Amino acid sequence: MKFPYTEKVLEHFKNPRNVGKMENPDGKGLEGSPACGDMVAVYLQVNPETQVIEDIKFESYGCASNIATASIITELAKGKTIDEAKNITWQQATEELGGLPPVKAHCSVLAVEGLRASIRDYEEKHGLVSEKEVTTPDVVRSRLKHVMNPMAGLDIIRTELVTKIDVNDGIVRILLDLPSNHQFAAAIKEDILEKVESLWDVTEVNVVFTE
Ligand code: FES
Repeated sequence: MKFPYTEKVLEHFKNPRNVGKMENPDGKGLEGSPACGDMVAVYLQVNPETQVIEDIKFESYGCASNIATASIITELAKGKTIDEAKNITWQQATEELGGLPPVKAHCSVLAVEGLRASIRDYEEKHGLVSEKEVTTPDVVRSRLKHVMNPMAGLDIIRTELVTKIDVNDGIVRILLDLPSNHQFAAAIKEDILEKVESLWDVTEVNVVFTE
């Protein structure tokens, strides 16, 4: 049987570029793939004058194809403005790698989604989002799909850690099925606050644990 990966895929998988976590990033995205449940995190450092991506890093909890595509995407995005980087497509990344098996297309989609999520996060934190959607429980829910449940390696919505979301006059209340003294409680709360507090019309976020 013919080996399905190109030399370039293998090379990026074995020596991924720009891999790791970034301390105090200007933008951060965490995306999960609906197809396989794997996740990717992308961190950006952006020049506020020129909007050029000066540094970018990624962490992949996915497969070899995801690692290789995330690696190539960071190379493509570095030095580009955030608007240019938004236009990088999974097809382009796949092409740069010399192709991927069709069954692995979702792995490159995941990498591109991670990049876009980090750009979106940067834009929101820097007041660059023009269309302002009113925050509803559904908006909060979709934000929480980007918060990882470290116990499962999946997001806190899919693992049903979130039992209720209320939004009232800019005040968001999120109920979790987790005791406050759980070893991951503080980390999960911090991630939730980071994702929800940046919504333009939210003034307060309360994370409520079971005890
Ligand atoms: Fe999940 Fe590739 S199989 S990212």
